[in-house]
Amino acid sequence: MSLVLYEVQDGVGVVTINRPEALNALNTPLLEELDKVIDEVDTDSVRCLIITGAGQKSFVAGADIGEMKDMNSREAMIFGARGNDTFEKIERLPIPVIAAVNGYALGGGCELSLACDFRICSDNAVFGQPETGLGITPGFGGTQRLMRVVGSGMAKQMIYTARNIKADEAYRIGLVNQVCTQEELLPTVKKLATQIAKNAPIAVRGSKQAINAADRLGVEYGKVVEEKCFGSCFETHDQQEGMGAFLEKRKEKTFTNS
Ligand code: CAA
Repeated sequence: MSLVLYEVQDGVGVVTINRPEALNALNTPLLEELDKVIDEVDTDSVRCLIITGAGQKSFVAGADIGEMKDMNSREAMIFGARGNDTFEKIERLPIPVIAAVNGYALGGGCELSLACDFRICSDNAVFGQPETGLGITPGFGGTQRLMRVVGSGMAKQMIYTARNIKADEAYRIGLVNQVCTQEELLPTVKKLATQIAKNAPIAVRGSKQAINAADRLGVEYGKVVEEKCFGSCFETHDQQEGMGAFLEKRKEKTFTNS
């Protein structure tokens, strides 16, 4: 049985972390499969990606503690780099990625959700960075991405205290954009993804590129990227189609990613 499942429907890809017996904890074979699946996403035909966890209880309950327990320093650095490289790949995908958080998102699970563009969760979700209670720092990007989403004060509080927070608190601090019932989670996220998939891919991707550029390298650089992306939308089929439809008062639009 695959540790990571992948399916595509109507231009929306769904990646499911599939190790429910261990609450989808990330071990090396799972991280290797996830990396391969991300490489296989055809970003020409897939317009939005969803990442979720198998089962009713957990998105991802963190990196595998059993595997990490007896690692030496060098092995742990390699393990951290493996997770970081794959999560970086997710963040750098040209298409939007939504985390559908269906339960525990702890440690590496919270970090996986942070590598996505935004997070929607079910009302049983629990977020946290429990690492300091295990004697380690967050290792898959938690010290870098959490503060960009919730601010450095809140990120430091969560990491230093290792305290888990429930869905309503995650919503209050801006870690998730929306909280749904468990039954509504995937339909809600799929509806959002379909809405994104209907817009001009060149414009959605350019927006992601410019926002991420500013996030990583600052507003001055981000503005340069925005100007380049804005300019490169013009003279495309999709720009002519989008603006043409508005001027012709036409509701139906066909964006071809060209
Ligand atoms: N690693 C390995 N196995 C895990 C795991 C993890 N992170 N989380 C859960 N599991 C396993 C449990 O060992 C258990 O396996 P067995 O049935 O074989 O004993 C199974 O999943 C079910 O878990 P529980 O019986 O513990 O379920 P619960 O409902 O009582 O508790 C929980 C759920 C609160 C999430 C609890 O499992 C828990 O605290 N898990 C660890 C969470 C954690 O600390 N994550 C951070 C890991 S460190 C990290 O991620 C570092 C990094 O940044 C890269």
